[in-house]
Amino acid sequence: MDTILIRPNRSAGVINRNIYGHFSEHLGRCIYQGIFVGEDSPIPNVNGMRTDVVEALRRIKVPALRWPGGCFADEYHWRDGVGPKSGRKRMVNTHWGGVVEDNSFGTGEFMELCRQIGCEPYVNGNVGSGSVREMSEWVEYLNSDGDSTVVRERWSNGRKEPYGVKYWGVGNENWGCGGNMRPEYYADLYRQYQTYCRDYGENRLTRIACGPSADDYNWTETLMERAGRHMDALTLHHYTVPGTWRDKGWAAEADEAKYYLTLEKASLMDELITKHLAIMDKYDPEHRVGLIVDEWGCWHNVERGTAPGFLYQQNTMRDAMVAALTLNIFNRHCDRVVMANLAQTVNVLQSVILTDGADMLLTPTYHVFDMYKAHQDAVEAASEIDGKPLMNGLNDLNELSNLSDSNGLNQTSVSASMKNDVLTVTAANLSATERVRVRISVEDTRLKSVSSRILTGGFNDHNTFERKDAVAPKPLDATIDDSNGITLTLPPCSIASLTVNG
Ligand code: AHR
Repeated sequence: MDTILIRPNRSAGVINRNIYGHFSEHLGRCIYQGIFVGEDSPIPNVNGMRTDVVEALRRIKVPALRWPGGCFADEYHWRDGVGPKSGRKRMVNTHWGGVVEDNSFGTGEFMELCRQIGCEPYVNGNVGSGSVREMSEWVEYLNSDGDSTVVRERWSNGRKEPYGVKYWGVGNENWGCGGNMRPEYYADLYRQYQTYCRDYGENRLTRIACGPSADDYNWTETLMERAGRHMDALTLHHYTVPGTWRDKGWAAEADEAKYYLTLEKASLMDELITKHLAIMDKYDPEHRVGLIVDEWGCWHNVERGTAPGFLYQQNTMRDAMVAALTLNIFNRHCDRVVMANLAQTVNVLQSVILTDGADMLLTPTYHVFDMYKAHQDAVEAASEIDGKPLMNGLNDLNELSNLSDSNGLNQTSVSASMKNDVLTVTAANLSATERVRVRISVEDTRLKSVSSRILTGGFNDHNTFERKDAVAPKPLDATIDDSNGITLTLPPCSIASLTVNG
């Protein structure tokens, strides 16, 4: 039996709700068709936004949404997407599939989407092919109340009040698609661009610098040394690619070795966060600068028969396990991880929603976000596991042993938090084959009641438009025993969320 000790009096701090954020780019069918169908569409919509998708996103309490990219951000010119739609510029989306972008979804539409979802907008500005003035005027357009020509433009587009956007990204992946820059060069550009991203009225911008890809520690070192004092947050991108970039593997066709490799690669997030934070600490001992993991998730081959540039992939229990494991990691690092954004909301990469015309389904990853939402703004509670390591017998796979400095994963992954005297425990059994009996005890707390849900299935199991609920949460039997502990059985490949009253 695994034992888990929850210690509510030992905490890394408050779990910023923005850790449960999402990312939507002008890529494939994410924005167009997935979210925005236009006011004249036969698909039910409010001001062009799909009602079914918005309602589903509201249910998981999406706290923040990043837009317009991604790589698209550094070739996006915001003025192309404001004003009467008939006059909006058409462009070719050269990054993603070479399709025509008619800019019918622009700044006003994104702000309307965030209003409908009830989330904070996180806007990513263009450094790669934009100008300082363009970025500066975008902030002014969104946030200023002054009677300037730029603000009058907003008024004439039907919006009197400033939007009060708080989260502002200064470029995306500027080491790659955002301009192929050296860190020294980007650090200087970052300092320059952010200077002209002004605070208006009471609104305070969180200025977000482009951070490293995965283990590029030199990027973090250079950025922090040269520009650390000018930023409020630094980003980190880490995708879980279960194969090579050329052949990533199929989303719903993993074997056992691939399943474990996927989890091991996902778990690198812990090491990446720890090491990047150690570098950040050298230049920011007060911990003023937060870490934002604004792109994460599984990246598989595109589904057969779909456009290569659209990044459409199925989403299985394996993806759900990666989500559970990663969110547990973020929760435990809540003292420094201030936001994270899963890539990408609808129809792209590890999405929470898939659509097919007017039809929509919720993926296993969606259900993880639903089962974890009680962690938002709760106080993290330390959790100590005494259990078995994962993958007995599989550790000798070369690919696995070369991956990280860590000693491998435990079979059980857990995090816990407390809000309004209610304890939430999320626990995943990562084994593909073995069930695990778990006993949870809570330090210094007399337990009164517990209710719980479980998401489980084979690691390739997924939802289809024919069987939308093939993978969905179900009630789980968990009981408080005579010695004030909770005992439960986690089947192989499962995620449980427990609500405990003490
Ligand atoms: O999420 C897909 C792409 O991955 C983003 O556009 C880019 O930032 C990253 O490389």
